[in-house]
Order: sequence, then structure tokens, then C-alpha cells
Amino acid sequence: MFLSALPCVGLVALAAALPTPDGGASIINTRGTTEPQGESLGFATVNAKVHESRPGGKTYNTVYPADWDQNSTAATEDIFNQVHAGLAANADECFILEGYSQGATATVDALARLTDAAFNAVKGVLLIGNPLHKAGLACNVDLDGGDSTFDVDGIWIVEERSDGIPDNWVPKTLDVCNFGDGVCDTKNGEDLITEEHLAYITDDGMHEMGAKFVLGRL
Ligand SMILES: *[C@@H]1O[C@H](CO)[C@@H](O)[C@H](O)[C@H]1NC(C)=O
Repeated sequence: MFLSALPCVGLVALAAALPTPDGGASIINTRGTTEPQGESLGFATVNAKVHESRPGGKTYNTVYPADWDQNSTAATEDIFNQVHAGLAANADECFILEGYSQGATATVDALARLTDAAFNAVKGVLLIGNPLHKAGLACNVDLDGGDSTFDVDGIWIVEERSDGIPDNWVPKTLDVCNFGDGVCDTKNGEDLITEEHLAYITDDGMHEMGAKFVLGRL
């Protein structure tokens, strides 16, 4: 009972640390096109809030080019490998996946490949400006947590690059699409890096919502 209530705490940590268990998150953060290698600006504030609330966690920054050519294969591989390497070292490790723009594509592409123990170990997926945002999914919210982009498709769904977020991942996911961000909202926005596509970086409500989602999943 105790263990199921504290899914991110290993047995050793539980024994050693009660009653203030350390349930920090291993966040795997994948940046968007042209952002320099490192933590995405889209998640820096969210992650700071998460780590402050749940000390003991860490952030891994997915290694890949994030070039204009939108080849995110190396990122998808890295995400997959990080989860498996983490579990090989500690079977109780819990993960949060985050992706912004091209990084969201890479993250969604990794989901279908994360099965069994890897599926169970990933507690939440936070996406912003996702080209694979798919109309009608229960995980869809706009920048204010509302439904103005519930029924819109992203550019790679329109282009049928993939089917988007697999059904079994929808309950673990928050796919935030700002109204008018043409990368995730082709109905109301232009397919360009617009102000709407960059709003996630500075919006306080987004930071609150993202941190609350991640903390709620841990
Ligand atoms: C995309 O990147 C992968 C991994 O770096 C590489 O193997 C592949 O050839 C690239 N695909 C294209 C179409 O450039």
C-alpha cells in the first residue's frame, strides 16, 4: 500500500528516508528547433519549480542536432536509451518526458517504443507546441488549460507523418497547444515560428500548469 502510494521511491530510499521520502523526478527534456544543446527554454521554469518541490530529481537534456531539417531520429533514440539505461541502473527510477516543437515530435515518436517496464516507469509526458498534436485527444489543452485547441491538428498530423500520441499514453500526457500556434494548431495559425509558438517560454500560467501536471504525475 505504501509503495503504491509512493511510486517513485525505491525500497532502499524508502527505508532510509521515511518519513520524508525523496521522490525526485528524472526529467528527460528535448528542446525545439535551433535551441542550443541543453535545457529547452520552454521547460526551464517548469523544471525549476518541479525540482524545488521534489528535491532529489535531475534533468537530462536530450542530445540531437535540433536542426531545421526536422530529422529528430537521434533524439528519439536518445530518449529511448536514457529510459532503458536508467532502469538498468535502478529499476525504481521514474521518468517525466518533455518535448517542445521538434522535441515534442521526437518524444511522441519514442512513446510507441517504450513498452512494459519502460511504459510503467514513465509517469508523465509534457508537450508544448507539438507538431504531432492530434485533434480530439483527452490530453489536449490550450495555454490557459482550456479547450480552444482541443479539435485542431498539428503540421505532422496533417502531413500524416505518424499517428501521434498512442492511445495508452494519452492518460499520462498533457499536450499544450497555444491557440494560433500553427505548428500544433494548423486551423488557426501559420506554419511558422510565430509569437504564439514562442509564448510557452514566458507564460506564467503555462509554467504553473506544467509544474502542477508533472508534480501530480509523480
Ligand atoms: C536522420 O538522422 C539519422 C540519425 O542521425 C540518420 O541515420 C538518418 O540518415 C537521417 N535521415 C535523413 C533522411 O537524413
